[in-house]
Amino acid sequence: MDDLRIHDDVASLVADAAAWLLDRIASAQAEGRTPHVALTGGSVAEPFHAEVARRSLDHAADLGRVHWWWGDERFVPSDSDDRNDASAIRLLLAPNEVPADHVHRVATTDDVTDVATAAALYAEELRRHGATEMDVVVLGVGPDGHVASLFPGQAQVEADDAEALPVTDSPKPPPERVTLSMPVLRGARAVLFLATGKSKAPALADARTPGPLPDVPARGPRGTVETVWCLDRAAASALGQRRPDVP
Ligand code: 6PG
Repeated sequence: MDDLRIHDDVASLVADAAAWLLDRIASAQAEGRTPHVALTGGSVAEPFHAEVARRSLDHAADLGRVHWWWGDERFVPSDSDDRNDASAIRLLLAPNEVPADHVHRVATTDDVTDVATAAALYAEELRRHGATEMDVVVLGVGPDGHVASLFPGQAQVEADDAEALPVTDSPKPPPERVTLSMPVLRGARAVLFLATGKSKAPALADARTPGPLPDVPARGPRGTVETVWCLDRAAASALGQRRPDVP
């Protein structure tokens, strides 16, 4: 199922997305599962994490009975504001006293010497927890159509030999990152896209239009059960139109 939800502003977008995520967590838990959820970085992440935390106070979802992961992470020091896990831990996981063994941070430059080791350790942890089929993957979308740290034209977009991959030349700083691979992003039961702003409009139109995957990595991730697009009007403004620069 492909569910397009267009919102007037960020507040209504994150309210909808947060309620949706909490409902999916509660449903999995009602079925006796401890869900695996991969969060994202980017500009929508922080208000999203704050809203999930706020709404969780009177929701059946138990955030302590979730395994929390990240779709991608920057390979920087543990206390760097550049870390994608920073706002999730500060706003969502720490206040809810989520057990440390349920918070799967990607190794930092304080933990290991190189990004390839960080990616290999993350992949091994994913396998050990059986998390290669996530319940939910939350993804931002870059103006170039990247998702997680899978960037247009880079070999990682089509790599299928590992659950997590190192990136050393991200066009979006910082350059070194770890990313879930496309098979993991496509193996999730549900994918939730979060995007705002006119700069994302062409990429989102391309993402929802058939074409080469390496050109627009956002064409790749789709839930095996559902895919939800939470967009503001500006980000959705080119949907249904072909980009003028495409012959
Ligand atoms: C990262 C993010 C990245 C982000 C998109 C959208 O590590 O940078 O995970 O994939 O989600 O770049 O970010 P913005 O919403 O800030 O444009």
